[in-house]
Amino acid sequence: MKVAVLGASGFVGSYVLQILRRSQVESVGTFFQHSGAGLVRLDCGDYGAMESFVREGKYDSIIVLASQPNVEWCESHPDESYARNTLPISHLAKILTKVNSSGNPNVIFVSSDYVFDGFNGPYTEEDRPNPLSVYGRHKLEAEKITLALEGTVVRITVVYGLEKNQKNFAERLIREAKQKRKVMVPVDQIGSPTYVEDVARALAEVAARQLRGIYHVAGPDCISRYELALRIAEVMQLDPAYIVPVQTAELGQKAKRPLRAGMLSGKFESTVGWKLQGIEQGLSKMQEQISKTQSAGFGIKVTGLTSE
Ligand SMILES: NC(=O)c1ccc[n+]([C@@H]2O[C@H](COP(=O)([O-])OP(=O)(O)OC[C@H]3O[C@@H](n4cnc5c(N)ncnc54)[C@H](OP(=O)(O)O)[C@@H]3O)[C@@H](O)[C@H]2O)c1
Repeated sequence: MKVAVLGASGFVGSYVLQILRRSQVESVGTFFQHSGAGLVRLDCGDYGAMESFVREGKYDSIIVLASQPNVEWCESHPDESYARNTLPISHLAKILTKVNSSGNPNVIFVSSDYVFDGFNGPYTEEDRPNPLSVYGRHKLEAEKITLALEGTVVRITVVYGLEKNQKNFAERLIREAKQKRKVMVPVDQIGSPTYVEDVARALAEVAARQLRGIYHVAGPDCISRYELALRIAEVMQLDPAYIVPVQTAELGQKAKRPLRAGMLSGKFESTVGWKLQGIEQGLSKMQEQISKTQSAGFGIKVTGLTSE
């Protein structure tokens, strides 16, 4: 099996590539603006570059994590959001239709619960999407193209874990609280936090089993961001006084959030025969990794971008 991971320089992609390599799966990871050891550069917005990459690589599966997941940025940059969130899949579809052989790779598109409106989550694969934001609409458009190709859509949500750029929710909260800065956290956004290593394992498994259709991959706890923040503070021994509960409306964000979101992973779990970890287990693993990283004295790069 040969797998391409588009967006392997990102948070989730770097874990996916790691797990594939550990399992001795032949794999190629790509970056766009942030290079990394062993990664090749690919701009998924560049049709010609994508075509050469796909034709020359002869992949069995292409996992597409290349994206701009900063929901606020996407809301005020809709054209760029389309270029980063939909165009990569639309290019792939054209390339594969042109090649049109039985040896075509399976396209695994990584999507989000932001395709739902958040009126009655947690959602199953059977529920009807109704995105509220530009980002959600562009993800849904890419999903439809993927399904028309008979590919795979894997929806993930609120992924947490150790991240070099410290931009996932847990990492940002830890960073701010350690620097004694208050963080406003919504009490009315409900979701299913998911440990990054589980997401990576799930994507590797989807590729290995050549699963098709839609799969939800989300942790079993359905809780508010505020409750999640308190659990993070407890495990990471942070002062909870820095966590300020607010309503989403008070944050003055441009993009509408699905409030009662989150997803159910029963279909995925019964297909693969293992369960995703809850936040107690996931956070303790994250905490162990942070301790190891600190004792090894690794520096951590901080960026200003915030994603989902
Ligand atoms: N993290 C979450 O909680 C979460 C939740 C739901 C869904 N998702 C989805 O999961 C996927 C991965 O998320 P993430 O958190 O890992 O995002 P991330 O850390 O921001 O990574 C995004 C990746 O996309 C690459 N990329 C961006 N524009 C590109 C382009 N034009 N051509 C090629 N590559 C490009 C980036 O490369 P460079 O950095 O090298 O530029 C990076 O490797 C995304 O599709 C996101 O929508 C994530």
